[in-house]
Amino acid sequence: MKATAVAPSNIAFIKYWGKINSDLRLPYNSSISMNLSGVYSTTTVEFSQTLKNDEISLIGGVFSTAEKSRITNQLNLVREKAKTSLKAKVVTQNNFPKSAGIASSASGFAALTVAAAEALNLKLPESELTILARLGSGSASRSIPDGFVEWLAGDNSRSSYAYSIHQPEYWDITDLIILVSERTKKISSTAGMDKAATSPLWEKRLADLPQKISEMKSAISAKNFELFGSILEEEALNMHAVMQSQTPALNYWTDETKKIMELIRDIRRDGNNVYFTIDAGPNVHVIMESVDLELVKNRLMANGFKPDAMIVNRPARGARLITEHLF
Ligand code: PMV
Repeated sequence: MKATAVAPSNIAFIKYWGKINSDLRLPYNSSISMNLSGVYSTTTVEFSQTLKNDEISLIGGVFSTAEKSRITNQLNLVREKAKTSLKAKVVTQNNFPKSAGIASSASGFAALTVAAAEALNLKLPESELTILARLGSGSASRSIPDGFVEWLAGDNSRSSYAYSIHQPEYWDITDLIILVSERTKKISSTAGMDKAATSPLWEKRLADLPQKISEMKSAISAKNFELFGSILEEEALNMHAVMQSQTPALNYWTDETKKIMELIRDIRRDGNNVYFTIDAGPNVHVIMESVDLELVKNRLMANGFKPDAMIVNRPARGARLITEHLF
């Protein structure tokens, strides 16, 4: 009745922005990501007859009431599958501070789903775990399979699942996250993406995505880093252009974000294949072939960025069970 799972956060190469069905969290488009070795959540879940309510806590932080009820909803989905009404104790730990501005919903809901399913002895296939995780947080579906992952949009809940395109060892690339301090309170991705269709750029984005997804997959299959990087960067800018032209406008960038984007373009003009992408926050993910890590770090440090605000990530495995529990 007790299980613990670790799940990585992931960075989207092709972004999920906009839901065609909010209740089922069905996205308008398929998305592609890579699991990150340096940022992850660990969650222990124990179901017990002695509990009257779910007891949910975060080591090194506090969950808001809204976050707790989202976690309870996720437990309800798993309970429904196992046909039980037993309450659970849930303890989570992120290896990054809440204040870092790194979204924990992908790693958190992936770890919660895998741990809760195992604690109730549900032997679910991976695709079904990704569907359950999706219902908690869309991007969490991509944190369950290993390495490089595609989440298929699908046209109903059954067909909207994630699977591994390539194992982590497939490609030796690095995602260097540069932590940028947030000045304004972040609008959640859930609230933000509900307004995606108000952008005048929205229809064009949707129409272009199928072709972009197939080019991105071909670039990864051919290990053509330059092509991959240019699609990656264009895609991030496209999603942020949609965000910034939504009503109300949504801007996740700070001056520091823009400074890093410029610096990456400079490094590229000097002949290095280095690209950036950004999710729903101000942090910049610098993507490179791993041999270029020292060069990129040195350029960033020479421009005033501190090594303790950088997190090095390699492609990582997806969610997995571990035997060491948090309580
Ligand atoms: O799954 P959510 O609600 O955390 O949304 C993720 C949205 C983006 O990070 C902006 C894009 C993505 O595909 O991860």
